[in-house]
Amino acid sequence: MGTISCVSNFIFLSKNSISSSSLPFFKKPIPIFQSFNFSSSSSLQVSASSTSGKAMVGENDLLIVGPGVLGRLVAEKWREEHPGCQIYGQTVTTDHHNELISLGINPFLKETKTDQKFPYVIFCAPPSKTPDYAGDIRLAALSWNGEGSFVFASSSAPYDCNDNGPCDEDTPTVPIGRSPRTDALLKAEKVVLEFDGCVVRLAGLYKMDRGAHSYWLHKGTVDARPDHILNLIHYEDAASLSVTILKKKLRGRIFLGCDNHPLSRQEVMDLVDKSGKFDKKFQGFTGTSDPLGKKLNNSNTRKELGWEPKYPSFAHFLGVSE
Ligand SMILES: NC(=O)c1ccc[n+]([C@@H]2O[C@H](COP(=O)([O-])OP(=O)(O)OC[C@H]3O[C@@H](n4cnc5c(N)ncnc54)[C@H](OP(=O)(O)O)[C@@H]3O)[C@@H](O)[C@H]2O)c1
Repeated sequence: MGTISCVSNFIFLSKNSISSSSLPFFKKPIPIFQSFNFSSSSSLQVSASSTSGKAMVGENDLLIVGPGVLGRLVAEKWREEHPGCQIYGQTVTTDHHNELISLGINPFLKETKTDQKFPYVIFCAPPSKTPDYAGDIRLAALSWNGEGSFVFASSSAPYDCNDNGPCDEDTPTVPIGRSPRTDALLKAEKVVLEFDGCVVRLAGLYKMDRGAHSYWLHKGTVDARPDHILNLIHYEDAASLSVTILKKKLRGRIFLGCDNHPLSRQEVMDLVDKSGKFDKKFQGFTGTSDPLGKKLNNSNTRKELGWEPKYPSFAHFLGVSE
């Protein structure tokens, strides 16, 4: 068993201990995590202690449910814009708590019982580790104090288009019952909207060593059709878009996150090959009858939010022409 001292025990603070006029950014008193004890059995104990502390939730404090690749980039960008804010990260395991602490994110486990509420909450955990995605979203929504924003990083998968045709924010979604994957996403989105939070439907996320291209390169040969059109957004752009939405304090809206440069699977891997930036060689796609994809366009989202991606296309990111 090892102990890591970081941001220690819950400290419940008295509202009377701070003058609200001298510290306008402090609002309701809430418990602050100040240290965690790890054990090798991956339990995390957060224990109550001192009541002498004076910290309270700041008006720009952020809870990230699922501080993975996207969540950590959101944390970085949020801190740039709000120096001095506290950022909390809720996870399923303690596996990455050391990394999170080193990044200045205060980690705690999903099972940690707290009535703490935050002005900004972003849910960016994938559906893979939970039997009840919508239930997890509800818990996250209950951690929101309703003041700043609550944003859910969803997926563009529910848009009902599988003929490689055009698709934008107004395209209808697939009906419930068509697939467990889209059911889970749509039910989760419904909870977000019930709480007046916002949804950002993201295209395929990527960075150099992560994303569809990296997965396919690792596999070598993939049993999927090469002409399926997919859509991408760089992790950094997904983070900047999420932060843009968080900052706007919008209510009950759905946005779309993509780079507006749809590519076929084959085109993606041709660009990978052309870039010369990867050691492995991709063998090919062998599928012939699986469904086609869609061509996403998020001009409406860009116009409304005044947002543009840093990486306008996968080819641009790799430094090659299309
Ligand atoms: N990857 C894509 O192409 C893609 C496309 C569209 C949308 N999205 C969405 O984008 C978001 C970010 O993806 P990502 O690649 O950054 O994810 P990621 O790196 O895999 O993030 C995983 C993080 O979420 C935590 N986590 C997992 N399930 C959780 C749960 N039920 N409750 C609380 N925490 C949980 C993990 O905790 P541990 O540290 O304990 O493992 C880890 O911190 C997700 O919402 C995903 O669904 C992804």
